[in-house]
Amino acid sequence: MTVKNPLDMHLHLRDNEMLNLVAHLSAKDFKAAVIMPNLVPPICDLQALKEYKQRVVNACNDEDFIPLMTLFYKNYNYNFLQEAREHIFAIKLYPAGVTTNSSSGISSFDIDELKETLEAMSELGLPLLVHGETNDFVMDREANFSKIYEKLAKSFPKLKIVMEHITTKRLCELLKDYENLYATVTLHHLILTLDDVLGGKLKPHLFCKPIAKRYEDKEALCELAFSGYEKLMFGSDSAPHPINDKECCGCAAGVFSAPVALPLLCELFQKHSNEANLQKFLSDNACKIHNLSFKKDKIIKLERNKWQVPSKYGDVVPFMADEFLEFKQNYN
Ligand code: DOR
Ligand code: ZN
Repeated sequence: MTVKNPLDMHLHLRDNEMLNLVAHLSAKDFKAAVIMPNLVPPICDLQALKEYKQRVVNACNDEDFIPLMTLFYKNYNYNFLQEAREHIFAIKLYPAGVTTNSSSGISSFDIDELKETLEAMSELGLPLLVHGETNDFVMDREANFSKIYEKLAKSFPKLKIVMEHITTKRLCELLKDYENLYATVTLHHLILTLDDVLGGKLKPHLFCKPIAKRYEDKEALCELAFSGYEKLMFGSDSAPHPINDKECCGCAAGVFSAPVALPLLCELFQKHSNEANLQKFLSDNACKIHNLSFKKDKIIKLERNKWQVPSKYGDVVPFMADEFLEFKQNYN
């Protein structure tokens, strides 16, 4: 299979040593990626953003790869956002405390409090990317957040809202109800259910937020993805953590899938769909939704060529470590 300009619409690259370890793995497979701002401290101002972007570019070491930068949501004013517009792709909103490095996220979804920023974003055409989870019972957190998505979608009809890494049938349905709602889905949520994470022995490397859900949820996500549904985009949410932070008491959330994303998606679409829908899911849908175009195309070829996923990349265990995959990237 061949993919033109594959895009990862949700990627964690971290900083410093980890950035240098993982960035090139995404840069060689993807034309562009949306880079998450949940560093410590989070990226909230333009100086920090520009400096981080430069470190990302240096670590990627690939002129063709485009990092699409994001700011961590705060109540920004119009003037700031107008200045920020040319430097950022979108703004990422985290409810406070729901996931890794989100403690300074927002704690109220009162429309009056969000209005100034979200109206400015609507006017400037800046998309809002949302980690949609409440603090309820863990299996209900995403579905319960649907009320907030509805409130946002209705209150800000001109705002492009992306429901990030959706994991439930509920959000698959919601996506169809509001014109201004879009979504990303990860690779691992097309493969896993909660059974894989903790139905047998506990698998820390499959633990992420939102947690993988029920079989009917996974089926709903697969149905949308494999049909090439136009409002759904691929976002890996590849989120590397050092092995000591995963294999310990108090496992960090995150699945490191960057090195296996394209080979596994190819395998899935080859089995359950086709090349044309893979192209939509991996690139065309996102290009249409976000008006993206590229001066130079990047073509990635995936061939039947069995290979074994390494046990580790540095001190990070990848998704499907030690497993054999059927397809491999041919970079020649
Ligand atoms: O599993 C996750 N890991 N979910 C997130 O939302 C954040 C991410 C991370 O930064 O490690
Ligand atoms: Zn994420």
